[in-house]
Amino acid sequence: MTSVPSSSVPPGSVTRAGEWTVARRRDGSVRAVSSRCRHQLADLSKGSLDASGCLVCPWHGSRYDLDSGEMVAGPKGFLFYVGKTPGYTQMIKAYGTVLKLRRRAVREVGDELVL
Ligand code: FES
Repeated sequence: MTSVPSSSVPPGSVTRAGEWTVARRRDGSVRAVSSRCRHQLADLSKGSLDASGCLVCPWHGSRYDLDSGEMVAGPKGFLFYVGKTPGYTQMIKAYGTVLKLRRRAVREVGDELVL
């Protein structure tokens, strides 16, 4: 079990809690998922939330649904390249649709988020 102060995850932010990435969407809901991007293992706790509440990878912009852990948009690039890669993007998305991020329940206990 791990926890982080609730105040360390304001609405619209992402942080790390042990091996997990914790995100609080703008509607206040909190989700925790595994922290390694299914593309090239970037640390998703360094990512961000987009306007629709999806977790966006900091390296190539893959997007994840926090409720299912599914990759809903593939990467735009690979290694140090960031840009259009249409066929490659769809191939990785197909993979990320099946091999979802793991999810972990989060409870607010007092001033802490407990996983
Ligand atoms: S490592 Fe996450 S999109 Fe490439």
